[in-house]
Amino acid sequence: MIILGIETSCDETAAAVVENGTKEICSVVASSKEFHEKTGGVVPEVAARKQVEAITPVIAACFEKFKEAKRLGSLDECYKLIDAVSVTIGPGLVGSLIVGIEAAKALSLALKKPLIPVNHLVGHIYANFIGNDKVVEFPSIALLVSGGHTDLVLIKGHGNFEYLGGTLDDAAGEAFDKVARLLGLSKYLGGVFLSKKAEECEENILEGKLPRPMLDQDNFDFSFSGLKTSSRRLIEENKYAAEAVACEFENAVVDVLVKKTIRAAKKYKVKTILLGGGVSANRVLRKRIREEAEKIGIITHVPPISLCTDNAVYIAGAAFFNNKQVKYEKLDANPSLGIMDRF
Ligand code: KG4
Ligand code: ZN
Repeated sequence: MIILGIETSCDETAAAVVENGTKEICSVVASSKEFHEKTGGVVPEVAARKQVEAITPVIAACFEKFKEAKRLGSLDECYKLIDAVSVTIGPGLVGSLIVGIEAAKALSLALKKPLIPVNHLVGHIYANFIGNDKVVEFPSIALLVSGGHTDLVLIKGHGNFEYLGGTLDDAAGEAFDKVARLLGLSKYLGGVFLSKKAEECEENILEGKLPRPMLDQDNFDFSFSGLKTSSRRLIEENKYAAEAVACEFENAVVDVLVKKTIRAAKKYKVKTILLGGGVSANRVLRKRIREEAEKIGIITHVPPISLCTDNAVYIAGAAFFNNKQVKYEKLDANPSLGIMDRF
């Protein structure tokens, strides 16, 4: 089954074609990130306008790539090969979401193809199925760590999720971004810059200076706002190099994420652990979770770095495994969709 995916939940405008939920045929991503860097955060109105500008060229470029990849003679042949159109319906910025949703509705109507709504958070988890030569066995624990969400779920099968816990305040990515800003590394989406700075630290002289929030609590919830405040205090002391603070902060977040995920994996006797979301691009997190899971005989799947942040490949992938088709009249944006919400 060949599915076209569309993703416009925030500042990326993306389209992709994926075969059977696992094989990426082509992908196009445009980003309005540079505009939000200037303002130090997303202005929803600006993001939505940029989505409007980008959506048609991105879809057109995606079809061109598809034509090339399949060595087809015309776009009409491409349209015939597409079995369904899938689109992110939430969570995200409403103005951005509706641009992708309306484009998907129009395509589904014009091409006479079914329409499949996708929860963006569930999509992130399905990045693990793309180009993965190993079979992902269930039950599985999925750790979803993005800019707006941190959730731990037990996956018993496709579409069969049990919620275990999540952040009570800030998401892990949000904390990374705020501390990166406090360290003067980046005003917007600083997680990756903080992580690079931490790599410069040869020895963590601040080991244990920052709290590992909720680590000893017997639940699967997280909290990162206190860690952010403690980091601010440490930075304000003006005694430590940025790389030392970055390293200790990164270790504190990773310690909590890894230990709670491993605890859940043991409790539910799962076969695999899946990482998803922008923070799953973090090298320390990827390494530590793999090492700890290996010690207890559990296989960890992590998406390729290029599929960790927002794109349409995993949207089309998730649509294949969660193929709940809807009529276009029924399709609407749901900006506050949670990981357990169906449509
Ligand atoms: O999933 P995503 O692209 O967008 C949302 O759906 O929220 O995640 C973006 C988040 C940002 O907070 C960004 O700073 C963080 O992922 N991120 C990272 C890294 N790369 C992206 N955080 C830590 N280390 C990284 N290497
Ligand atoms: Zn995302």
